Amino acid sequence: ERQKYIRNFSIVAHIDHGKSTLADRLIEETGTLTRREMEEQVLDSMELERERGITIKSKAVRLVYKSEDGKEYILNLIDTPGHVDFNYEVSRSLAACEGAILVVDATQGIQAQTLANCYLAVDHNLEVVPVINKADLPSARPEEVKEEIEDVIGIEAHDAPVVSAKTGLNIKDVLEAIVEKVPAPSGDEEAPLKALVFDSYYDSYKGVVSFIRIKNGTIKQGTKMKFMSTGKEYEVTEVGIFAPNFYPVEELKAGDVGYFTASIKNVRDARVGDTVTESKRPTEEALPGYRPAIPMVYSGIYPVDGAKYDELKEALEKLQINDAALLFEPETSIALGFGFRCGFLGLLHMEIIQERIEREFDLDIITTAPSVIYKVHKTDGTNMDITNPTNLPDPSEIRYMEEPIVKVSIITPSDFVGSIMELCQERRGNFINMEYIETTRVVLHYQLPLNEIIYDFFDVLKSRTKGYASLDYELDGYKETELVKLDILLNGDVVDALSMIVPKERAYNRGRNTAEKLKEIIPRQMFEIPIQAAVGSKIIARETVKALRKDVLAKCYGGDISRKRKLLEKQKKGKKRMRQVGSVEVPQEAFMSILKVD
Ligand code: GTP
Repeated sequence: ERQKYIRNFSIVAHIDHGKSTLADRLIEETGTLTRREMEEQVLDSMELERERGITIKSKAVRLVYKSEDGKEYILNLIDTPGHVDFNYEVSRSLAACEGAILVVDATQGIQAQTLANCYLAVDHNLEVVPVINKADLPSARPEEVKEEIEDVIGIEAHDAPVVSAKTGLNIKDVLEAIVEKVPAPSGDEEAPLKALVFDSYYDSYKGVVSFIRIKNGTIKQGTKMKFMSTGKEYEVTEVGIFAPNFYPVEELKAGDVGYFTASIKNVRDARVGDTVTESKRPTEEALPGYRPAIPMVYSGIYPVDGAKYDELKEALEKLQINDAALLFEPETSIALGFGFRCGFLGLLHMEIIQERIEREFDLDIITTAPSVIYKVHKTDGTNMDITNPTNLPDPSEIRYMEEPIVKVSIITPSDFVGSIMELCQERRGNFINMEYIETTRVVLHYQLPLNEIIYDFFDVLKSRTKGYASLDYELDGYKETELVKLDILLNGDVVDALSMIVPKERAYNRGRNTAEKLKEIIPRQMFEIPIQAAVGSKIIARETVKALRKDVLAKCYGGDISRKRKLLEKQKKGKKRMRQVGSVEVPQEAFMSILKVD
């Protein structure tokens, strides 16, 4: 019947192996769009995404393909994001498919994320279809790479399509492989509605548009539906498919991928991973694995110009309409004034939000160093969660504290095991075990404090392993740790926005390093600036920024005027990101620099 001619699939790959380029070629080859219409990569539609070369949000597109068997197939391509911050979204996108194309670069072979993504697909019981890409390059070695896939991953690869997503070579083979190898969906159209939300976004005309995969049943305009995690009910106003733009249809049935709208105002009410059913005839059980996205990283965001507070608030509200994982609430800082404490899924998520505020809303902001959530157990028997170090109660009121711990798995060529273990040791890691996945490749399992990996862990890991290691982590609970608040004083005053919570045994080193780093970052001013680090009332480090001896312009005295103007302009530019803290001007980097450690 109908479902026999549907294929739902994703493309997974190591970064830069050509996932987006291949998606574009598939769209083009099936005539969904012509090359001219495509100019830009279709799936990565957000400007920021394109610039960073990453896929943040899942999307879908429907291809119609007439196969060599003479039949017409509907191929639903579901795009997945590729970063660990968005792992949950990747997992939901895969759960909407029966198959995954695994793209491997013919010049590089299997890389860390190839494995991580492939295992994720296997975990979701997907049929994995290998495709060897970049065959146009002189250094391509497709036959060797096929063998690698068979040896390392253990899936059949000798007949894998060898293609060039760039030139369009053999793209038809990929389409044929999808038709042949990816199983057709098999849901019950008569059963109660059961659909997976794998993405949602806010559209100013339609309200929230939810991307769904129908597992069982039927959804159409007028269906009274309900989200199973919240019990919230709505009436469906439109259902449709992506062709590749929104294209309303009468109904979506078991096996279909499409969207629906229901006058929903906020993506929070249509969360990724949730199950949609009918109000009147609900399905008994929700689809497995729904969990709301929990922010793990917090930081303060302040306008550089205090008068822009309301604009910043509006920007955050607008971003939140489309980002169920973003949290924010007002906070005040003595140093930075009025701003917001914001919660993010991880560091990439945080950077993306910061960039969007600056770019899309044209606001200059200062962000404070990221922090995790600390659980404080007080002597009076109450508990509190701390997301801003400034709010830590006096040590005399604290019985003990806990910090979040994550379970980390790192996949790496075995050559790098030594240096990775060293890194994890430096970051207070607790070794769990190591497994060989073949003779030259291992998985390392560690427990690490989240605090130790939120800042630069991934960068350091990458540089120590030449980019070969891949990292995954998930929250593993909380652990008691001796923690203290480290304060930084400029010119004798505590700068609250620079305070941080650190393990007691690290306080001294961290204090000294921070003072040294701030000395480099804070420009000389008309007077001497002492920089001190303190735990409680005890000063543990001190540096001094010497006073400016001469007016900078004095150097140009008598010199040509254009040089002088340039210098002034440069100073003005630098100022934009400066903040007057008491009597001292502090550049933006200072607030972030404090987490780059040791
Ligand atoms: P995203 O994760 O979505 O960003 O995609 P990706 O990182 O998997 O790869 P993308 O499609 O962005 O391609 C990465 C780079 O490889 C780009 O510069 C492409 O132009 C290039 N590329 C992709 N396919 C081919 C190919 O078949 N041949 C050659 N020579 N280059 C290719």
